[in-house]
Amino acid sequence: MKNILDGKKLADSIKADVRIEVEALNRIGVDVGLAIMLVGDNPASNQYFQATLSACKRVGMTAYEFRLPKTASVNEILNVVHGINIDERISGLLVLMPLPSQINARRVINSISPEKDVDGLGAISVGRLAADESTFQLFMESSQGEILRSKGMHPSWSFLPCTPYGVIRLLKSYQVKIKGRNVVIIGKSLAVGKPLANMFLVKEATVTVCHRETQDLASFTRQADILCSATGRAGLITGDMVKKGAIVVDIGINILKNGDITGDVDFGSVSKKASMITPVPGGVGPVTIAMLLENTVRSAQRNELLNSPLMMA
Ligand SMILES: NC(=O)c1ccc[n+]([C@@H]2O[C@H](COP(=O)([O-])OP(=O)(O)OC[C@H]3O[C@@H](n4cnc5c(N)ncnc54)[C@H](OP(=O)(O)O)[C@@H]3O)[C@@H](O)[C@H]2O)c1
Repeated sequence: MKNILDGKKLADSIKADVRIEVEALNRIGVDVGLAIMLVGDNPASNQYFQATLSACKRVGMTAYEFRLPKTASVNEILNVVHGINIDERISGLLVLMPLPSQINARRVINSISPEKDVDGLGAISVGRLAADESTFQLFMESSQGEILRSKGMHPSWSFLPCTPYGVIRLLKSYQVKIKGRNVVIIGKSLAVGKPLANMFLVKEATVTVCHRETQDLASFTRQADILCSATGRAGLITGDMVKKGAIVVDIGINILKNGDITGDVDFGSVSKKASMITPVPGGVGPVTIAMLLENTVRSAQRNELLNSPLMMA
């Protein structure tokens, strides 16, 4: 299909670049390590855990697995996070959500050192994005990291959250113009909708964020040049809600009773109206993992740069 935004293809090319960068670090004796923490046995998280492990393997990173029982206390979890924060072998930490109900998830996420918050969801990372202090990646990402080295890094630079940043990268890879366009995002979560809105603002789009209390959703979605949906409601967006020629990014992941995976968008009717559209699966999902790997190798590069004799002089 001609108008597909192919996330799998982009993810493969990002992973190939990450692998080259990991190998370059390996050649100077630096191993790149990503810690992945799973608390409890949520099947979707477990699936993501396995997918991240195999992605690490593919790019030559060392994955450090931390599995805790669902009865783990917040102190036990914080102790593990603290250990990871001071472990020189580890460049990034991903804590899989949801955490068991007795755990204050924000407390755990905020305990990750910002330098290792490669999922970009801690308060410092979120705040820096909102304060335009973390927009380096939005303008200067480079596959080989030369720009990163040549420009150095602002001390307050942190990582952008993987899913929304993946959306921006997917649009960029298809040369989609963002500046000045009407962007409508459905969903205002801290992990997806809010940071995505901030990123589109950095790119100078006009941004509208809709949610469950939005009245007459279709009147907003029909205004969108770029429509992004992140609700977890299968079939929420239908063809009549989309402007002809719009670009539609489906971030939702819904597992149907028969085991099929689908997004928020009714692909059949919307793809007839949209000029470009992401499939589910194969759209934003694969790019999310690729961004996690890219953030992790950037963290290792930054560490290496900061430890270099040049920086210490
Ligand atoms: N592709 C990926 O890599 C990836 C990564 C992360 C998440 N996801 C998927 O993206 C979806 C959203 O994830 P999330 O973590 O952001 O979920 P979330 O925290 O549950 O947030 C869902 C958002 O959607 C809004 N919403 C729900 N039903 C709605 C409706 N009928 N009309 C308008 N807005 C509605 C909610 O509004 P209120 O705030 O008013 O409740 C909320 O803001 C899920 O399907 C998740 O699996 C995919």
